[in-house]
Amino acid sequence: MRHVTLMQIFNHHIAKKYLSRSGIAHAIACAYHAFRLAKTYNVSVDLATKAALLHDMGHYTWYRNGKWDYDLYKKHDIHAIKGAERAHKLLIRLGENPIIAKEIAIAILFHTDSYMPEGFIKRTPLQEIVKLADEMDEEQGGMHHYRKIEKEKAIKMIERLDKMVDEELRNTPDKT
Ligand SMILES: [Fe+2]
Repeated sequence: MRHVTLMQIFNHHIAKKYLSRSGIAHAIACAYHAFRLAKTYNVSVDLATKAALLHDMGHYTWYRNGKWDYDLYKKHDIHAIKGAERAHKLLIRLGENPIIAKEIAIAILFHTDSYMPEGFIKRTPLQEIVKLADEMDEEQGGMHHYRKIEKEKAIKMIERLDKMVDEELRNTPDKT
């Protein structure tokens, strides 16, 4: 039995604010990739889908002289650190189990090497899944952050994924 559903997370105003900034279509696509990967890697689909949905909620835009500056952004990027903290706060507010909230936050923290030398992080299967799910949906020049999805379609996809997660947890109770 899950403490918090993907729909509860998705409907929260904090998630809405940050996910629309980093791309709702990207967040949902990653959550679906994470679901499939979690089954392959024998990891909890609950943790994997939540971490993937929220992995980019630390994103922000970086401007210089009123213009988006990607180089400057890359240089100063700490979105994984911000995202981990924001996701943790949101999950705790929604009543998530603190152990699960912590695991999800750490998976978000380690979903990218962008803020440290490559190869520095040795990932657990859950952390690896979030990184892979993100890479599977990546488009050149960060375009995946700008892909659009209709509101009704987004809600339907979250609803469907919640059902898939519940069913998987019912079938594999040892992985909850
Ligand atoms: Fe991402």
